[in-house]
Amino acid sequence: MNSGKTLRVGMLGCGAVGSEVARLIAVNQSDLAQRSGARLELVKIGIRNLAVPSRANISQELLTTDLESIVSDPEIDLVIEVIGGIEPARALILSALENKKSVVTANKALLAKHGGELFAAADKNGVDLYYEASVAGAIPILRPLRESLVGDHVQRIMGIVNGTTNFILTKMDEKGAPFADALAEAQSLGFAEADPTADVEGFDAAAKAAILASLAFHSRVTDADVFREGITQVTDTDVAVAKSLDLVIKLLAIAELTKDGAISVRVHPTLISRTHPLASVRESFNAVFVEAESAGAMMFFGRGAGGTPTASAILGDLVAVARHRVSGGVGPRESDYAERIIAPMGSTRTQYLIRLDVADRPGVLASVAQTFSKHDVSIQTVRQTGLEDEAELIIMTHKASDAALAATVADLKSLDAVKRVASVIRVEGMST
Ligand code: HSE
Repeated sequence: MNSGKTLRVGMLGCGAVGSEVARLIAVNQSDLAQRSGARLELVKIGIRNLAVPSRANISQELLTTDLESIVSDPEIDLVIEVIGGIEPARALILSALENKKSVVTANKALLAKHGGELFAAADKNGVDLYYEASVAGAIPILRPLRESLVGDHVQRIMGIVNGTTNFILTKMDEKGAPFADALAEAQSLGFAEADPTADVEGFDAAAKAAILASLAFHSRVTDADVFREGITQVTDTDVAVAKSLDLVIKLLAIAELTKDGAISVRVHPTLISRTHPLASVRESFNAVFVEAESAGAMMFFGRGAGGTPTASAILGDLVAVARHRVSGGVGPRESDYAERIIAPMGSTRTQYLIRLDVADRPGVLASVAQTFSKHDVSIQTVRQTGLEDEAELIIMTHKASDAALAATVADLKSLDAVKRVASVIRVEGMST
């Protein structure tokens, strides 16, 4: 019910997401008022450059280049931040919180680096800092972790949280395309940026992994805690071999509790069974697979990027923080009471698929097997394909620690019979 109150909203940024937020606030005004209990009025939009023409539908008198004037304006109650990046977003959000404005942001890089400082400022000032749009775009995943699953014990999260890399890996899988061709297609269709580093090197997914791990395990996890490996080394041969084994390669953000209660958090290309629910997540879609002690396995699927889907998550948060403002309180917040430690990557245990180019002569398999055994890495299967005096060995291990596997690979490289370690890819979600 509308209380008759008006809440004034200021927005920092007006790109693909911001302009959709502005449009949706305008077209849904009556519903948003009924749902939040107050009329939501977008009164100011801060942008860096007034000359950018892509805001044809935005009323020009709302625009200002004085971003600070939005976060310090006593008439503004709620602030939406969609400029991205660390600064000036961090200083502006801190200033908004200090000025008792609740903030809605989509800024994963900022939250993964400075979340602790920002949440403390929100707490101190008795306002909300909501950020559903920062991970997996439109997909409601942060609220379920923070609220619906707060009575359970999350054990593991595996997410496809970057649409660009999922699109590239899908094209490599469907067409047998090399990485460079699939990236070029993603760029031509607007799925990948001209500089695709943040996506293909896993930085974007690592920030999202830190946010997911913090919420799931009630501990403060930052981007620096996340082991990160991108997809630029994944070849069309890796994809073809995966297919022949009924596996598929996905860039997964994985956060799990070790048996000692530490947090293992990482982003890397991962082989999963083609029957795993995440294997069916194709093109630029995102999905987050959650395993909790009592709830069991769940999967959240949808659009992880794009102006309108991301704006949906922002409007959901906007209504939530407006409701809290109308009722005079703040909403449920994350906690970091558990203070779990981060497990070093070397102690993380997974299976591995290793491809080796070797000489094809008596004793080679024995010396390779001996090297695995020396580091206590157990081999599950070996497949050999040969051509004249050379062969390729495709070795699947049982679970081993990352440190033991790295030592095995270093030793394999020094064996006479091993011409090349062609690839090493982690395997998840299988039975051993
Ligand atoms: N660049 C991201 C992606 C979307 O490709 O999924 C924003 O996080």
